Order: sequence, then C-alpha cells, then structure tokens
Amino acid sequence: MPKKNLDFFMTNNKIPPLPSLPQPSQPPAVQAAALSLDQVSFAWPGGQQVFDALSLQVRAGEFVAILGPSGCGKSTLLNLLSGFQQPAGGNIRINGNAVRPEMPELGYVFQSPNLFPWLSALDNVRFGLRMAQRLSAAEQIERAQSYLALVGLADAGHKLPHQLSGGMQQRVSLARTLVLEPSVLLMDEPFAALDAISRNAMNEETLRLWSKLGQTTVFITHDIDEAVFLADRVVVLDPAPGGIRGIVDIDLPRPRSLAATRRLPRFADYRNDLMDQITQATQSA
Ligand SMILES: Nc1ncnc2c1ncn2[C@@H]1O[C@H](COP(=O)(O)OP(=O)(O)OP(=O)(O)O)[C@@H](O)[C@H]1O
Ligand SMILES: [Mg+2]
Repeated sequence: MPKKNLDFFMTNNKIPPLPSLPQPSQPPAVQAAALSLDQVSFAWPGGQQVFDALSLQVRAGEFVAILGPSGCGKSTLLNLLSGFQQPAGGNIRINGNAVRPEMPELGYVFQSPNLFPWLSALDNVRFGLRMAQRLSAAEQIERAQSYLALVGLADAGHKLPHQLSGGMQQRVSLARTLVLEPSVLLMDEPFAALDAISRNAMNEETLRLWSKLGQTTVFITHDIDEAVFLADRVVVLDPAPGGIRGIVDIDLPRPRSLAATRRLPRFADYRNDLMDQITQATQSA
C-alpha cells in the first residue's frame, strides 16, 4: 500500500500501527498510469483470438469496472494483467514495470472465496503473511486480526469457513488479499455467487475499503448496476476479439451509498447507456 494511503488508513482507524512489509526492490517508475495495456494481442493455444491491439490505461487509485458479454475475454484480461498469461504482442505494465506473476503490488479476489477449509478465518487471512516469512508470528496475527476487523469480522477469527455465511467467507477472502497490501486490486466477479442483499452489502463494503486504502482497482462484473455504483469508469468489451466497445466516465458524487446513489437521475442515465452498449455488443457477436 502506498505510504500516504497507509497513513490515512492508520489515522482513520483506531488500531495500532502495523510493521510495514518490505517494499519491492525496484521503486515504481514515475508515470501517470498505474496499470497500462498497450496494443495487447492474445490467443489461447489452439483457440480463437481473444484480443487484438487492446489498449487501456488505469490511473493510480482509479476504480475501473469491466462489462461485456460472456466469453468476450474479461477473465482472460485479468489473467494477462496478473502476468499468469503472456500477450502475443504489445506490453502490459504495472506501476511502470513489465508485469510478471507474483508481483507484490498485485492482489486478486475471485468469484469463489477458496478458503482453506481446515484453517480458521484468522489463519486464512494470515496465510500469505506466513508464506512471506517477513513478520514474526505475533506481528502476523496482529495484522491479520486488524484486516479481519476492517472487513467487519473482528469476532469471527476463530471460526472455520463452513461456520461462516457466503458473504462472510467472501469478506475473509477480501481480507486475505488486502492484508498483503497490494496497490493494484484485480477482482473477477467477486460477488456473483452472493444473494442480492449480501452482494449490495459487499459493494458498499468494497467502496468503504477502497476509500480507505486507495488501491487501483479493476473489477469484472456482469452487473451493470454494480459497475455504475462502484466505478470511476466503466469499460464495455465487444465479443472477442473486438476489444473495447466504449468507455463511460461515471460522474457520481462520492462517498456513495446504494440507497442514495441509485436514486440519482444520472445513475439511470448511465445504466441505460451501458445497457444499450451491452445489447449492441451482444448482437454484434
Ligand atoms: N484456458 C483456456 N484455454 C482455451 N481457451 C480459453 C481458456 N479460457 C478461456 N478461453 C476462451 O477465451 C475466450 C474468453 O474467455 P473468458 O473466460 O476470458 O471470457 P469471460 O468474458 O470472462 O466470460 P464469462 O463472462 O463467461 O466469465 C472464450 O472464447 C473462452 O472459451
Ligand atoms: Mg469470466
């Protein structure tokens, strides 16, 4: 997490300061975009072309949502951004550096919480810290507990995943990613499996955490309302290998609450515009 964000987080949360993880050995180059795709092309082996000259820049601290028809390449895009897949052409940079797997500044949250069923919520959150072996056991526990509290589960640390609701499990999953203090957060339909009420709660939770921690966020979703509520910009993808159909700037006031934001006339305008774009994208397949 950038130091200014950590300072802000500490001064706005009544928890003791935590020891910082060592910073990446190479400081980020000075540049505007935290995340940049330049003329990226990609095809799965033996499969169809998914991207052909895709370019997109995401500013530091920006929240970008990605919408598009099923199979258009949203998850593939996240695979490329995470360095798990290499583009055939073009380049991808994270904070100015060529992306590679396991970059410490990258964090992922997937649709399924994928918690270790035999570990308590606290130990699930602590897991990455244990693997990194940079903090003492006491520091790991203190930090894991702080992030559990941050996602509203201060009292649930001792529980096993099967003792938690789906929404609570996804909160643990979020805390497990956030505890490693990524500056770039990649989320692939993280709340798609939740019921509508839990999903709404997690959307508000996501914005609350993002406003405290300030990560650059790329959030994949099928849900237009979710995209408009969360994002600074919504990117609509065409069926593969069409790339970007359109980008909509979401000029709605922050902080946002679902109840108030959904009632704004502009919310409906953005929603209708995006619905039209998705319909056109789907029909162009
Ligand atoms: N591991 C893989 N090997 C080969 N082809 C793949 C692989 N993963 C995805 N694809 C293909 O790449 C294209 C894009 O898939 P991707 O999973 O990125 O779509 P998506 O937009 O995330 O879809 P959804 O909304 O259904 O999650 C599809 O044609 C899919 O069949
Ligand atoms: Mg997908």
